[in-house]
Amino acid sequence: MLDPFQREIDYLRLSVTDRCNLRCLYCMPAAGVKKKRHEDILPLETLEKIARTAVESGIRKIRLTGGEPLVRRGVLELISALGRLKSLGLRDLAMTTNGVLLASQAKDLKQAGLDRVNVSLDSLDAGKFRKITRQGELTDVLAGIRAAQAAGLTPVKINVVLLGGFNDEEIGDFVDLTRGEDLEVRFIELMPLGGSAQAPGGFLPATEVLRRCPRLTALPQPEHASVARLYRVPGGRGRVGLISPLSKHFCWQCDRIRLTPDGKLKSCLHTEEELDFRDYGETRIAEFLRDGVRGKPARHHMDEADFRPVARKMHEIGG
Ligand code: 5AD
Ligand code: SF4
Repeated sequence: MLDPFQREIDYLRLSVTDRCNLRCLYCMPAAGVKKKRHEDILPLETLEKIARTAVESGIRKIRLTGGEPLVRRGVLELISALGRLKSLGLRDLAMTTNGVLLASQAKDLKQAGLDRVNVSLDSLDAGKFRKITRQGELTDVLAGIRAAQAAGLTPVKINVVLLGGFNDEEIGDFVDLTRGEDLEVRFIELMPLGGSAQAPGGFLPATEVLRRCPRLTALPQPEHASVARLYRVPGGRGRVGLISPLSKHFCWQCDRIRLTPDGKLKSCLHTEEELDFRDYGETRIAEFLRDGVRGKPARHHMDEADFRPVARKMHEIGG
């Protein structure tokens, strides 16, 4: 699908739940989220139908997000169903997860048809990890990463949100993970979204990583644009990615649309504009997707002084 700015939109991010088994400071309210009424969340069968039509319309990559996708009951069956879309043209089926449940589920996920995972991890220090997630155990996530590697959910990518004064001292430790292992550690600039005011650290530009690790050398960019600029430590097996939605925005190569758990199509993370699936229904899915793509804004304006963050918190959109 081509949007009005001639961008090819071939990537759908499906948020399957706004619930999570962690409470990251910048993402979730401390008390968790009020359980939505059953009828407010799209059923898995509907998600499957939307995904099928999306693939028929030209979507080639699907990522499950949340909240934490692994807390949605039936997610394994959904993955099996989405895996079957590969015969229709789907090329990449991925998931963004906090990793807490990966150790027990990685094998089944792979078997069901999941290709790979991105694991969110903002600190390698057990105490700090607990602080930022309010309730997480670092060892669970590390075991999850290992299990994902062993199950072949590769390449495993680790998402680190840069938080000045909180995890900047750990940048070198994260980079070191890529020396001996085929991992991609991606540093992401903190974006102003609903709730991010609670972040335990301040904004840091992704270039801070290069300042701290001057030995990182740039890799040639893969042809199909990823949002990360890639680097490598000399002799390292893995890669380091820098994702700079603010300091160097990549909207001109944006290739994605998002569906929230309650059925709202968002053509940009930073727009309040949403299309409601309920206005279309299962007979008009293709139109729903096409209208979303047609309404995609040229770019976000996060870097401008009068920018107003969207009201939804990250867990309500899907990162
Ligand atoms: N800014 C940048 N990244 C964020 N994430 C969640 N909230 C923000 C924010 N305000 C990250 C999560 C996860 C990914 C989906 O998005 O840490 O890795
Ligand atoms: Fe859960 Fe991810 Fe939000 Fe943390 S960032 S609370 S892991 S949805």
